[in-house]
Amino acid sequence: MVLEVLKIALFGAETLKAGEIVAMLHMDFKVQIASFYSVHADARIVPRFQDQSDSGLPAKLQHALTDAKKRKLFEGKPGQTYDFQQAVFIGLGPKDAFLPHQFMRAIGAAYPVLKRFGAKAVAVDVTHLDSACVSFAVQGLRDAAYRFDVFKTEKAKDALLEKVVLVAKDERAHAALRSGLVVSDAVLWARDVNNQPGNVATPAYMAEQARKMGRNAKLKVTVLDEKTLKKKGFHALLAVGQGSLNPPRLVVLEYAGGSKKDPWFALVGKGITFDSGGISIKPSADMDKMKYDKSGACAVLGAMSALSALKIKGNVVGVVAFAENMPSGSSYRPGDIVSSLSGKSIEVLNTDAEGRLVLADALHYVHSQYEPEHVVDLATLTGACCIALGEQFAGLFGNDDEFLKQVEHASKQSGDLVWRLPVQEFEDQIKGEFADVKNVGHPKGYAGASTAAAFLKQFVSGSWAHMDIAGMAWNTSPKPYLASGATGFGVRLLLGVLSNRNAFKKANDN
Ligand code: BES
Ligand code: MN
Ligand code: ZN
Repeated sequence: MVLEVLKIALFGAETLKAGEIVAMLHMDFKVQIASFYSVHADARIVPRFQDQSDSGLPAKLQHALTDAKKRKLFEGKPGQTYDFQQAVFIGLGPKDAFLPHQFMRAIGAAYPVLKRFGAKAVAVDVTHLDSACVSFAVQGLRDAAYRFDVFKTEKAKDALLEKVVLVAKDERAHAALRSGLVVSDAVLWARDVNNQPGNVATPAYMAEQARKMGRNAKLKVTVLDEKTLKKKGFHALLAVGQGSLNPPRLVVLEYAGGSKKDPWFALVGKGITFDSGGISIKPSADMDKMKYDKSGACAVLGAMSALSALKIKGNVVGVVAFAENMPSGSSYRPGDIVSSLSGKSIEVLNTDAEGRLVLADALHYVHSQYEPEHVVDLATLTGACCIALGEQFAGLFGNDDEFLKQVEHASKQSGDLVWRLPVQEFEDQIKGEFADVKNVGHPKGYAGASTAAAFLKQFVSGSWAHMDIAGMAWNTSPKPYLASGATGFGVRLLLGVLSNRNAFKKANDN
């Protein structure tokens, strides 16, 4: 066991070496089954529910907390912190409404406080919490510590938090620590690669990163380059990329965690490395954020990177479509009619509705090649989804109620929150005038997230869930628990859906 802990502390989680691009977080985690206040540390994190009585704490802390409550400085609300001497209280909200994922952002909010302390070793009290909170503690602290600073000549000279002791009640904490590190590696990898700017992260670069990641994560990786895409007839993907000097790539990653007879589970991601809008060009304000238009693909790649380390059962295929949407003399134009891999013709009314075009080919490809049992796609697809659901929820769409319930369940476990929106009712709106389908719905953009989903549905032939993550994929303002930039939204949710299927299968086998 000691060796095991040492190994994790020194090398991070098992198989995944996320590559040179992941920021090295020199933070070592260790589980200790002990009584919390007997553990030595420079600082300690003390979780509190909103309705919890102050008794049971050491006298000094009890007084400090009672005093803070009286002065309305700390009530135990989610996201609240209050520090006294070397203790940081973190709020978890009302106990009966608490979900383990909330521990992630609660502990993350304490990270800036620990930095202010200059703490090198911190002890976290998880003795009264579900072992899942151990995993979320790891993810929360590492998420809070991550910075995208590879291009900065002078890195922040923050005091480093070197050692985190998770003080837990039983042995289950060890497995939770291990999975927390694996999931966190996957999320940080996804954030890091997504934060890369468009001049670095071209479709070819993204394919190369996928290849490297796949080698470390025991995946079979196939990259279809421009020539192959042409030969195979990916007309919609090629149309989107034809205005750019950086040609498209389609990356296919296979994880064989089941037998040959087992069905495939498919993950599909939108990977627009930069979305200028093309000839239907976007306004300048915030156009820089369109480097994050590859967030769906990054989430799929991040999730794929963790499958083998998490010993997920079953076969999983990831398909990510990369292209850059640029205006030039070779760009596709509004009014163009393009074909697609499926053979359906598409009328391009707006070149800025490009995500659905690359997904059309990726979705058709995965259906025709793998006949998957379920498909989930993730995409920063519409501004309309941000208008509808803000930065609170991703939009969830689909054609299979049972499956969507599984996704919703994993959403509540993982903290990657989703909200259901309708699809079928909008299919009429994307019928083409001069082609089979058109790439925009209502001329005023009404229900834009649903009409986009209705378009995707035309290229789907089985159980399917679509997530519009436009409002969730990056942070517009830095939070104490998460720097500005890519959030890694979707990685945890996808891993949750796949892990739950494991548990479900096990129950059925027995
Ligand atoms: N990548 C954008 C969607 C987006 C916009 C995500 C803002 C996050 C923030 C997508 O390709 C797009 O431009 N969609 C258009 C569709 C419209 C032209 C039908 C949109 O939402 O305006
Ligand atoms: Mn666009
Ligand atoms: Zn886009």
